[in-house]
Amino acid sequence: MCHLLIQPAWDEAECAVVVGDSYQKQGLGRRISSFGMELVAERGIKRITGDELPENEGMLTLAKKLGFAAIRDMGEGVYHIEHELK
Ligand SMILES: CC(C)(COP(=O)(O)OP(=O)(O)OC[C@H]1O[C@@H](n2cnc3c(N)ncnc32)[C@H](O)[C@@H]1OP(=O)(O)O)[C@@H](O)C(=O)NCCC(=O)NCCS
Repeated sequence: MCHLLIQPAWDEAECAVVVGDSYQKQGLGRRISSFGMELVAERGIKRITGDELPENEGMLTLAKKLGFAAIRDMGEGVYHIEHELK
């Protein structure tokens, strides 16, 4: 599942991705994340963001591989990730 939250007034979209346990590590997370990023870019949105727990190593690794930057600890153990879209 790829959940995208886009508000008309925003220039950014919030993204959350979940792949069922038995379907993980087969490339689905990368594919649905890339598709979500394409949908957002097509709508002229400039930035895609998400908030991740540090123990979510899979999502943090995938985000880095997809070009997300500015990964920083926001306190209380949450990482905020952002990707500027072209
Ligand atoms: C994170 C998640 C979406 C990845 O989905 P996936 O289908 O397993 O990911 P993929 O098979 O497409 O792998 C994509 C890349 O991430 C890396 N990766 C995936 N899971 C990983 C893990 N647990 N640890 C380290 N790297 C991981 C893979 O090495 C892969 O790299 P590659 O394409 O260069 O080989 C999935 O594990 C998941 O749903 N996790 C639980 C839900 C969750 O917490 N979602 C985030 C909330 S927004």
